[in-house]
Amino acid sequence: MPLVSSKQILLHALENHYAIGAFNANNMEQVQGIVEAAQEERAPVILQVSQGAIRYAGLDFATGLVRIAASLADVPVVLHLDHGTDFDQNVRCLRAGFTSLMYDGSKKPFDENVATTKRVCEIAHLVGIPVEAELGRVLQSTDGVTPEEVEAAMTQPDEAQRFIELTGADSLAVACGSVHAMKSREAELDIERIKAIHAKIPNIPLVLHGSSGVKHESVLAAIENGVAKVNVATYLNQGFTEAMRKAIAEMPDETDPRKIISPGREAVKERVREKIRLFGSAGVVDSSGGLTSGKRQFRSAHLGGAEE
Ligand code: G3H
Ligand code: ZN
Repeated sequence: MPLVSSKQILLHALENHYAIGAFNANNMEQVQGIVEAAQEERAPVILQVSQGAIRYAGLDFATGLVRIAASLADVPVVLHLDHGTDFDQNVRCLRAGFTSLMYDGSKKPFDENVATTKRVCEIAHLVGIPVEAELGRVLQSTDGVTPEEVEAAMTQPDEAQRFIELTGADSLAVACGSVHAMKSREAELDIERIKAIHAKIPNIPLVLHGSSGVKHESVLAAIENGVAKVNVATYLNQGFTEAMRKAIAEMPDETDPRKIISPGREAVKERVREKIRLFGSAGVVDSSGGLTSGKRQFRSAHLGGAEE
């Protein structure tokens, strides 16, 4: 089916207490692995490309790859810009046909973040495209952050309410204890803070960034309390590169790149399937491509099977 907007699927997830997986891709094999997994799990999916991915693949290639993958699937696929750090990048992606944007002004002072988020929302909304914003800041593990720095960068519930009123953003990335690019799953989220933010802006889907480093139980508690989009990148990249390293070690004389790369694609697919089941979005899409209604009971079923 054609690419869809993230607006309705995120609201559906919020209302039904599950989350949509938003998976980062940089190349054809990652796009294929992600969309095949969503297709097999009957899950709506957000395929997101970062500014780095756009620099690597080129905007037209990145857009084309996701558009083709979506056209071959019969589950909803969103093409989302991840961490667009300026207005111009958002406009370029809007023009290229992205169906969901992110303006990340988290490094800017509050007023500047508000001003640019508002501008991006105004133009994107003119053509029906939703915008994710970020308030507080999800830090990078590569910067060697301390627990005190993570705490200091967390989203303030009162500010979140004011921010949404001033900007009109459709969803909000919140900083609540996760850190980008962690290689092991050990972080715990501040669930009370997520609850407090959700209470202030109950109709705005919250977004969890840096989920690769967060314990599964914490992710599930966040989903129960207003998180409707969960971003995953590092965990997929680890699977992709480990599988290729293993293939090279097992077949040191192999020169056919397909034999090396396809195990990477399979690994991405398996990891996306695991996350989709964890987030409760498996089985949400019916045979006609629509979303099934009713509160989803995922927690106990998926906690048991989830690898910690
Ligand atoms: O925007 C992307 C995500 O927040 C991914 O974070 O690499 O820690 O999974 P991660
Ligand atoms: Zn992120």
